[in-house]
Amino acid sequence: AYYENVIVSKPDPAVALITLNRPNALNALNAAHFNDISSALREADQDPATGAMVITGSDKAFAAGADIKEMKDKTFAEAYTSNYLANWEVIAKLRKPVIAAVSGYAHCHTSLGNVAIYVTLVGKLGGGLELALQADILLAAPSAKLGQPEINLGVIPGGGGTQRLARLIGKSRTMEMVLTGRIIDAEEAERWGLVNRVVREDSGVVDAAIKLAKEVASKGRVAVTAGKEAVNAAFELSLSEGLRFERRLFHSLFATKDQKEGMTAFAEKRKPEWTHS
Ligand code: HXC
Repeated sequence: AYYENVIVSKPDPAVALITLNRPNALNALNAAHFNDISSALREADQDPATGAMVITGSDKAFAAGADIKEMKDKTFAEAYTSNYLANWEVIAKLRKPVIAAVSGYAHCHTSLGNVAIYVTLVGKLGGGLELALQADILLAAPSAKLGQPEINLGVIPGGGGTQRLARLIGKSRTMEMVLTGRIIDAEEAERWGLVNRVVREDSGVVDAAIKLAKEVASKGRVAVTAGKEAVNAAFELSLSEGLRFERRLFHSLFATKDQKEGMTAFAEKRKPEWTHS
């Protein structure tokens, strides 16, 4: 499908690359842009050929947050009755892994893997960071700048920034980001565990994200889906419920051909051939 604000490509037959493309607004996320992002991600999630997705922005900005000009005149009644931002969670509901490559600005709401959550993390601010925070793995370019600057606009993060960030980097660091709006750089984000790592290689953060996505996509899909679901359960369940959920999922994988193939291949000292079944 063609999208006005998003470029979709296949750098590898098993990897979908979704690039936020609203350059004259630094990938600020207006309604049309966000609809394009969520449709492109959902399409890739449902495509049987795709094993993992990478989301990224431009060198200058993964995503500079929600579109302030679009939000400016919204009333409480409009925001409340339309449940503004309720569709934000679409990324968190995807079944396949999403890697965000963040360069430039990423306001913290983004989390798709390189965008406003600033996910091929060149940078994400506000909604950008919150978008990125919904990705499963975050890689940052050295230029990435992440922040939740909403406090400077008279509001607070509305895309999960206060909740996901607090779980990721702890209460006091989240408080500092949310209450001061301070933008942190890639090094600090790495130290705080906000991103997996800063990609310093010349080939860049998007290439590194694609490489990682290819590796994930080369595994058995049933097990990858189970692994993502089990890790995500750690954020929702108590430890004993989570351990029980994990063990049941583990048991269920003994019903798959991929488990028989994986363990047989190990015993026969050869590479497994996954059938994703
Ligand atoms: C609308 C934006 C925008 C935004 C940038 N632009 N960010 N438009 N919404 N969030 C537009 C500018 O108006 C300008 O358009 C063009 O993009 C280039 O931006 P500049 O400001 O000229 O660039 P620069 O000087 O390099 O500064 C970059 C920046 C700054 C530091 C990222 O643009 C900035 O502070 N942006 C706002 C970031 C922010 O507060 N984000 C949080 C939003 S609230 P024109 O037409 O003037 O040239 C939020 C809530 C999320 O995200 C809720 C859940 C999703």
